[in-house]
Amino acid sequence: MTLQIRTLTLALSFFFASSVAAQTAEVAAPAEEEVTVEQVTEDVAAAEPTTAERDPTAPDPARTRPELKGVFEDFGGEAGLITLMDDFMAIMLEDPRMRPFFINADQPRIKRQLAEQFCAILGGGCTYSGRDMKTSHAAFAIDRADFNALVEDLQIAMNRRGVPFRSQNKLLQVLAPMHREVITR
Ligand code: HEM
Repeated sequence: MTLQIRTLTLALSFFFASSVAAQTAEVAAPAEEEVTVEQVTEDVAAAEPTTAERDPTAPDPARTRPELKGVFEDFGGEAGLITLMDDFMAIMLEDPRMRPFFINADQPRIKRQLAEQFCAILGGGCTYSGRDMKTSHAAFAIDRADFNALVEDLQIAMNRRGVPFRSQNKLLQVLAPMHREVITR
């Protein structure tokens, strides 16, 4: 029941939030010229998913809120966040709504990036090295129902880990506006 109310609150926040979809900047095609080994190496390195790709028009995916340090402690610090992501991913893989998105994805990487992102947001002193939210999700057809389903699974994981309700809500308040970059359809 509480879960439903909170999911509804999030859904409402979408309704009221403006959905200004920033246009993806066109990347100019490189002029045809001889390609050097160094260039190829650089290109391969640039394509590596470990490189933080940031769209300059996308908001900072991990802006630190030092005032949320207490929430970070309630999550059990960095170790708590890492464990939380194990649970979260396992829950999503059992959820027929989420499974198709994650079954073929690099799960260890996503868990690591999520823990890092949440740690950075919650003032835990981490630096988020992943991609921005727009770039990370652009290749997927994600709608509002998908977004809400993911939030529900996150709530289940947080409940299992005994994260106090108040702290859960503090994090969800920060995540909710990200629907503008995550929802693609
Ligand atoms: C506020 C909500 C969300 C946050 C904070 C979030 C965060 C992240 C982060 C940090 C990554 C890793 C970025 C990187 O690889 O550098 C990621 C990847 C991913 N996310 Fe989300 N996400 C959210 C919502 C969603 C939703 C609703 C879906 C689908 C229903 C989704 C599906 C995915 C998938 C499939 C990837 C892997 C992308 C890839 O490997 O190319 N995410 N997300």
